Amino acid sequence: MSNSSYEKPDFWAQKARKEGYPARSVYKLQEIDRKFGLVKKGSRVLDIGAAPGSWSLWVLKRLAGSGFLAAVDLQALAITPSDAAFHFVRGDLYDETIRAELASKGPYDLVMSDAAPATTGQRLVDQSQSEAIVEAVIDYAETLLAPGGALVAKIFQGGAEAALLKRLRSRFSAARGFKPQACRTESFEIYLVATGFTG
Ligand SMILES: C[S@@+](CC[C@H](N)C(=O)[O-])C[C@H]1O[C@@H](n2cnc3c(N)ncnc32)[C@H](O)[C@@H]1O
Repeated sequence: MSNSSYEKPDFWAQKARKEGYPARSVYKLQEIDRKFGLVKKGSRVLDIGAAPGSWSLWVLKRLAGSGFLAAVDLQALAITPSDAAFHFVRGDLYDETIRAELASKGPYDLVMSDAAPATTGQRLVDQSQSEAIVEAVIDYAETLLAPGGALVAKIFQGGAEAALLKRLRSRFSAARGFKPQACRTESFEIYLVATGFTG
C-alpha cells in the first residue's frame, strides 16, 4: 500500500465498513498485535473503552471460542456477539461496582484500553483527561493482570508518556510507545504497550 493510501481520510473507515467492523480503530489494534503478539488462543482479555466494539469483535475472532473477553464502556456496543466467553458491562471505569464485576472475571493476560475522553478541542484539557484515564487504567491493570500479562493503553501525547513508561518498566519487563499507521496523520495519540507483567 502506498503512503498516499494511508493519508486518505476515509481509507480505514471504508475498509472497516467493508470488513464488518463498526470503527476504523480495529486496524490500530491489528498493527499493535502484529508487532507485539498479544492476543493468543486461550487469552483472557479485558477491553476498556470498548464501544462501538471493533477491538472486541476482532479479539473474539482471534480467540475463536477459546479464552475469554470482558469489555466495558460508558456507551452501548454496536456489535452483538453471541459468544459465551464474552461479557460486556456498560458503565464507568471509575465506578467501584463496575471494577469489582470486571475483576471477578480476571485475572487477565491482556488489559487493553482505547478509552478516550470526550474531546473539548482544547489540547491541554484533552491531554490531561487522557493522562488521568491512562493512570487509572494502569492502577487497575496492575490489580488484574496475571504474571507475564500485557497492557495496551491509548494516550494523547502531552509529555506524561516518559514518566508513565518509566512507571510501567518498574512492573513490566518491557514498555514502549507505539503509533500505528492507522492513526490519523493529524492525531496526537499513541499507545503505551507493556509486556511481561512481573506482578
Ligand atoms: C475511541 S473509542 C473506543 C473504540 C473501540 N476501541 C473500538 O474499536 O470500537 C473510546 C471509548 O472510550 C469510552 N470511555 C471514555 N471514558 C470512559 C470511562 N471512564 N469508562 C468507560 N468507558 C470510557 C468512550 O465511551 C468511547 O466509547
